[in-house]
Amino acid sequence: MKTLDRQNLNESLAPLMRTHFPKEFVWGSASSAFQVEGAHDVDGRVASIWDQFAQQPGAIVDGADAKVACDHYHRWPEDLDLMRGLGFDAYRFSIAWPRIFSKLGGSANTKGLDFYDRLLDGVCERGLQPWLTLYHWDLPQYLQAQGGWAARATVDAYLEFADCVSRHLGDRAKHWITHNEPWCTAMHGHYDGIHAPGVRDLKTALQACHHVLLSHGAAVRLIKNNVSNAKVGIALSLHPLHAASESAADQAALQRHDGLRNRWYLDPLHGRGYPRDIWELCAAYAPEVKAQDMQIIATPIDFLGVNYYFPETVYDAPAAHPLRTALVQNADVERTAFGWEVAPQGLADLLKRIKTDYQTAPIYITENGASYEDLVQADGSIDDSERMRFYQRHLRVLRDLIREGVDVQGYFAWTLMDNFEWAQGYRRRFGLCYVDFKTQERRLKKSAYWFQQFLKNHA
Ligand code: FCB
Repeated sequence: MKTLDRQNLNESLAPLMRTHFPKEFVWGSASSAFQVEGAHDVDGRVASIWDQFAQQPGAIVDGADAKVACDHYHRWPEDLDLMRGLGFDAYRFSIAWPRIFSKLGGSANTKGLDFYDRLLDGVCERGLQPWLTLYHWDLPQYLQAQGGWAARATVDAYLEFADCVSRHLGDRAKHWITHNEPWCTAMHGHYDGIHAPGVRDLKTALQACHHVLLSHGAAVRLIKNNVSNAKVGIALSLHPLHAASESAADQAALQRHDGLRNRWYLDPLHGRGYPRDIWELCAAYAPEVKAQDMQIIATPIDFLGVNYYFPETVYDAPAAHPLRTALVQNADVERTAFGWEVAPQGLADLLKRIKTDYQTAPIYITENGASYEDLVQADGSIDDSERMRFYQRHLRVLRDLIREGVDVQGYFAWTLMDNFEWAQGYRRRFGLCYVDFKTQERRLKKSAYWFQQFLKNHA
């Protein structure tokens, strides 16, 4: 493990300082409505596909649901105080669509809008910069009943939602993220089925994906019309990839995997259409694309949000359908409790590749973080040194990248507090703050204290 040794040595030689980053660099924490809000039936909120999914036996670990989650709906003042106390500049959060429109073709729910008014005011009063995500996976269930993202009409419904929210909150919110991780919406939601709505069909997945991307492009135009000085982008889950070997077969497998994992999103957003090699491979499952769709998807964005968690190693697996690839579970690598490979250097590989291949808009790391087994000590403290080191090592890599000229303008930690981690329920804790889900008490972990020190160090 030579790389690790070298990394540790660097760490001890040079402490990481906030002042190593550009002055205007934005430091935030990120969350999503469904994972933290709870209050599932309060003030006119209707069910989302995740409420429905959580009712399916075996869909979520421990049969958990997010009816209460972190009760952020009621406890947001305390949570914003925590963010401020840790020294963050920005809060990335999402708007729950099922709070805003309770049925198809109806008018907006005032009580739902009022909640986000209060939250947004609270964010601004504390000097935090709001970053709004429009879609972080909680599609209203009534839309799923009409076909969900696989139906083109959902694009129109999304635009109505985007129009309403941007008109309402755009006076105070200037940073907008149209979608969080379309790959997950499409592939986890509609191909492997481990996320809501739990469909398992590649053709449906690629059609859903196309509609998500189309709705993104159309929303960029719409938000910019509605909101003066808006900065609009999208948050993609992207992965640095390696081939399992030098063999031509594994190298070709790497290209194919990259095609559906990364290029399927980056190419059309940058005006190149869907990657031809993958389109041909997946011809039998190809989405219906109408004239103008690709131009709309390629509407210029103001920033690219990158959610970075882990790299993947790919090998040629002729029997696997349809890309004929599979992933190697490397045995000799460091992993988080979730099993995700810890690879700070992967962030550099990924961002350099994006810069070289796409010359994209400025980048914000819209998510990065790790889940570990957080044990509460007898004195109540939580020694999550592994998470602290995870952050330190990734930020060190980021600092060096910026020095090398990669245009990264901000970083959002995932996440402020432990929350409902989708199919993993409450088993996977990603927070800087520990949440006792019985009492809703929030307690700073060691990683939070470290972040606080790091962020306070302006001088
Ligand atoms: C990302 C999701 C986010 C959270 C983290 C751990 O894929 O965007 O909601 O679950 O993973």
